[in-house]
This record gives sequence, C-alpha cells and structure tokens, in this order.
Amino acid sequence: MSAPRQLFVTTALPYANGKFHIGHIMEYIQADIWVRHQRMQGSQVHFVCADDAHGAPIMIAAEKAGKTPQQFVAEIAAGRKEYLDGFHIAFDNWHSTDGPENHELAQAIYRDLKAAGLISTRTIEQFFDPEKNMFLPDRFIKGECPNCHAKDQYGDNCEVCSKVYSPTDLINPYSALSGAKPVLKSSDHFFFKLSDPRCLDFLKQWTANGAVQTEVLNKISEWLVPDETGKTALGDWDISRDAPYFGIEIPDAPGKYFYVWLDAPVGYLASLKNYLGKIGVDYDQFITDPKTEQYHFIGKDIITFHTLFWPAMLHFSGRKVPNNVFVHGFLTVNNGEKMSKSRGTGLDPLKYLSLGMNPEWLRYYLAAKLNGRNEDIDFNPDDFMARVNSDLIGKYVNIASRAVKFVPGGKLVAAPSLADVDAAGLAASVKTLYESRDYARALREIMAVADVVNGAFDTAAPWKLTKEGKGDEAAAVGSWCLEMFKLLTACLKPVLPALAAQAEAFLQCAPLGWTAAAPPLGAGHTVGKYEHLMQRVDAKQLDALFEAPAAPEPEKLVPGGEELAPTITIDDFTKIDLRIAKIVNCEAVDGSTKLLRLTLDVGEGRMRNVFSGIASAYKPEDLVGKLTVMVANLAPRKMKFGVSEGMVLAASHGDEKAHPGIYVLEPTAGAQPGMRVR
Ligand code: 2FM
Ligand code: ZN
Repeated sequence: MSAPRQLFVTTALPYANGKFHIGHIMEYIQADIWVRHQRMQGSQVHFVCADDAHGAPIMIAAEKAGKTPQQFVAEIAAGRKEYLDGFHIAFDNWHSTDGPENHELAQAIYRDLKAAGLISTRTIEQFFDPEKNMFLPDRFIKGECPNCHAKDQYGDNCEVCSKVYSPTDLINPYSALSGAKPVLKSSDHFFFKLSDPRCLDFLKQWTANGAVQTEVLNKISEWLVPDETGKTALGDWDISRDAPYFGIEIPDAPGKYFYVWLDAPVGYLASLKNYLGKIGVDYDQFITDPKTEQYHFIGKDIITFHTLFWPAMLHFSGRKVPNNVFVHGFLTVNNGEKMSKSRGTGLDPLKYLSLGMNPEWLRYYLAAKLNGRNEDIDFNPDDFMARVNSDLIGKYVNIASRAVKFVPGGKLVAAPSLADVDAAGLAASVKTLYESRDYARALREIMAVADVVNGAFDTAAPWKLTKEGKGDEAAAVGSWCLEMFKLLTACLKPVLPALAAQAEAFLQCAPLGWTAAAPPLGAGHTVGKYEHLMQRVDAKQLDALFEAPAAPEPEKLVPGGEELAPTITIDDFTKIDLRIAKIVNCEAVDGSTKLLRLTLDVGEGRMRNVFSGIASAYKPEDLVGKLTVMVANLAPRKMKFGVSEGMVLAASHGDEKAHPGIYVLEPTAGAQPGMRVR
C-alpha cells in the first residue's frame, strides 16, 4: 500500500464585503466533495479558506458604514459559519488576509522576489478622482471593455470576456465613486517583472506539465505564446497602491501598500500556517515537504491571477508551486444571468436553508452537473426536483427501505448475487472519477447500479416469496440489496456526508472509506432499525425559493440628488453666523460668465462686497433691493476680481447637469438686514 497523500486544498478567498451567494457555495461544495473523497482514501488533507479582507472597495464600504475596515470585515466573517455548516462544507480553518501570518508572509515573499531581481519601480500615471481627492481603485473606475466593448466593466478585468487590463485601457472611463471623469496623476509604483524571460520560461513549463485543465491552458496561451514579432502579452504587474489603502505595507516604502491581489493568494498560505499553528504542526516543514501537494479550486474569472501571477510569485520567491489549479465555470439559475461576485442573484443560500430544504439535495444536484471542466452549469428547478426525487430518493434511498423489510431482525444472511454488479469495479471507477472531479459521471455510474439493484429486487419479488413461505429466500434478496445499499452509500459519501452518516448508523458499520466500500458486510452482520433517511423535495419549496420578496426594497432616495452631510452638533452649527443681507447693488463681472458682484448691507454701517456664482440664473437687476441670507463670518477670500467678504446662500440640485437651476434664498416679509438666522 502506498503512503497516504499529504494535501493542502483551498477555495478562492471571498471578498469580505458581502454575504455568500450561491456561486461561492457551489465552489465550496465542489472542493468539499473532493476533500471528502481524498479522506476516504486515507489522504491527509488540510482544507482552508479565509476572508479576502483588503483593498480599496472594502475600505470604502467600511467608511460608508461608519466602521473601521477591521470591524467591517469581522462582522462579515461572523456570518460565514451559518452558510458553511448549513451546506456541510467542512473547512479545517477560516482565516483572514488581514491576519498577522499574511502580513508576514506577503512581505517575506516580496523581499524574496526583490532579491531575485524581479521587482522594479516606475512612475506611472494613474486615474485620480478630482472630486474625491484620491487615486481610484481599479474597481471604482468603470467604462467600456477595450477588448469586447461590453459597457460598464471594471477597471481591472472584464466580467464578460475575462480580459485583464489596466484602467487606463478602458474606453470612456468614469469614477464609480463620484461619476466624475477621472484625471491622470503620477505616482511611484512597484512592479513584479513578469516580462522577465525567466518568468515566461517557468510559466510555459509549469502550465504545460498538467497544472491546468486543457481548456484553461488554451485560454492563457494568449499570454504565453509569442506573436509574429516574438513578443508575448505577459507584461509587468503593478503590485502597489497608494495610501489611503486598507492592506499590507510594502517594506521600506512608506505610504505604499500591496495591491490586494498580491496578498490575497498569500492568504492561502497564511490560513494554512494559522491552522497548523493551532494543531501543533510546523508550517515550514509541511510546506517545504516534497510530499505536500497543493491544490486551488477557483472560478474562471480569476484564472490569470492563479495560473500566471501566483505560481510565478511562489516559484521565484523560492517556494513550492501549486500542483494544480482547478477551474470551474459560473452557475446560472434558470438559464438566467451569471452569478457574478458583485451581482449574486437568483438562489439565496440562506433562504434555501430557512425553507427547510435539505442541503444535501443541493450538493447532490450540483454534483450531478459538475464534470471537472471549466464549463458553466445551470440550476433548473424542475431538473432539481426530478434528480433528487427520482434518482437520489427513488433509486438509492428506496433500496434500504424496501429491502430491510425482508431481513428478519436485520440479520443479514448469505446473499448470492441477484445481478451482475461488480462492486469493486464500481468503487474503483467512482473513486477515479471523484479524483478527476467528474462527479457527474460518478453519479451516473452509481445510479446505473442503483437501477440494476432495483430491477433485480423487482424481478426477485421477495414479497411473493414471503407469501409462498420462502422467507429465507426473501431474506437473501433483502440481504443482497442491503449489501448493495452499503456499496452505494460509500460511493455517494463525498457528496452526501450527512445522509451517509445516517446510513452508516442504520447499517451499523464503521465509517466507510474506499477500502471498505466493496467488501460485503457479510452474513451474520446485523443492521439497525430503518428510519426514513430523506424527505422528498416539495414543489412548493421551490416556488417559495424563487418567489420574489414580498415587498421590494424601496430605493433609497437621495434628497436633492446628494447624500446628507455627516451629522454635526449644535455647537458646530452656531459657529456659522448667518445674517439677513440686503442686496443694495448687483452687477455683472467683467471677464466672468459665472459670477455676479453683490453689494450687501448687513446692518454694520458699512457695505460688503461678495462674489456669487449665480450669473447663469439671475440678471443683476432681478436681485437689486431683495433680501437674502449670507454667511457673515466667512474668512474674506481674495479672488481674481477682488476680495469676497462672505457668501450668499442659494439652493441647487446635486446633479446640476440633469437638474440645472440656482435659487437664492429670500426671507419672508418682516426680516431686517443684520438679523441673525438660527
Ligand atoms: O475574486 C475574488 O473574489 C477574490 N477575492 C478571490 C481571491 S482568491 C485568492 F487569491 F485569495
Ligand atoms: Zn470584455
């Protein structure tokens, strides 16, 4: 017998800015099935994940919520368990990329890459939001994809064609924070020199040696195969961002942080390290052990990060590279829109659970669709119901309930085969199919055998045998069927861990692994009392699952087209001295189309000179003689046309383009110049 394998398995680290959607759950279930299969063959597996905590989007979301990024991320993390437990997804560890291990490891990897001569610095021009006064993160610049021309794509990669590019490549970019047209501003940035010939050589060899699926290799070959001029698309990768940023500081570079995609995959190692610390295993020893195999389950939208940047980071920092990156497609619901990370709609996982729907129905259904290739799959409610009710329950579960009735006291008797079922052959084949993640085919083979068993049971008709006084023969039929039920249970166990545990309890056998799958329980073995193993899907549950929420969330109205400013105290307000002012004179300003010059009387025995940007709305003669409100204690401001000694109050819409118009305030009758407004 060969020594047990030693595996380190991950799923993509979800951004800590929202709840899980069904796309996350599908990926975790896919990986969890694989891990459970590994454990059934005695592999030692560390299966870890973490929150991807860093980046400007999370920083901005936290700010909006009035929280520190750390608080914000911690609250998201606290909600993870409900989903994971709910769908029987058994990660060994859940960590965060903001954990100390990640800070340490990301900085160490960076230092090693630098020592290898693969870090460079360059001044680059980057989009800056002139209204928000900050460099715009890629995800906050939107525009048209330069490759497929899809509209409203993010600045780092296109969700439609998966192309990775830089924000400056976008056509008609705009700031998603303010809507402003971003301006270019320069800043020093750090780069990982992927254009170095060493990187290309390494990546060609790594990808060619089976570390990625064929269809993935085809997809990334555009990066690795030179064009007619001998050049490849593999350019240097910008790995730094300027403060303000929620992330990991770059060593010896104040105000510079690692771009979130640099430290995110390092989070795989950080979560592993954190876990090994908890169970008292030496991280360095484990990760450098040549026996250790490393696998990442990811979605097709993040292929380039995982099959180019990440392996190169690991290799050139002197670390172990992944054995394989397993890429899956997107999940659609009802042939609907793809389940993108930012737009998860359709099937709400917590609603599914709250309706009392069995998590293993979903595991079974998804497994029946997953074939290990990078292909999209669709959740179809009718198909779901048919597969669960007709296959899983109608074929597999039913064997136990039908057969046990004919085995008195549950005591198995010698059971000659009723049909040509190669138990060892099925177990071996299914095991191989799990290994290659072709769960769909594994389940087809399992259900084909379930059909054979049910057919043999029907043909043998034990109920007739009993009537004819041939109870022993009926017991043999029942016993054989229960042996087959045990075989099928083992085969389904990675997909249906809870159901398998119940079945094992009924069969009164030790937890089933692959070696125990085929050998019979044997005559004399006693099974327990049968209790119904699984409920059928009720169509009403599916209706409820997809029913639109009773009342749609009202759109949050932004008064006047602008969010309210942060709360102030009464003391803040009284600092502003507002007074009634009489417009004693008003004239156009030579050389300005925007400004009017106002002469104001605030009852001080002198006149004030105030410039106001209201020329588009008023003719000077419209205003002369009117009363208005002014800020009387504003520091005088020197302007091109003279000194302005205060400010007149006027109302306008937040979106001036869509709602033009400026309205100067005017008190109701009786107010006198110099009165305070409070
Ligand atoms: O695309 C995403 O959701 C990223 N948070 C995935 C990161 S995977 C790994 F690199 F951390
Ligand atoms: Zn595109």
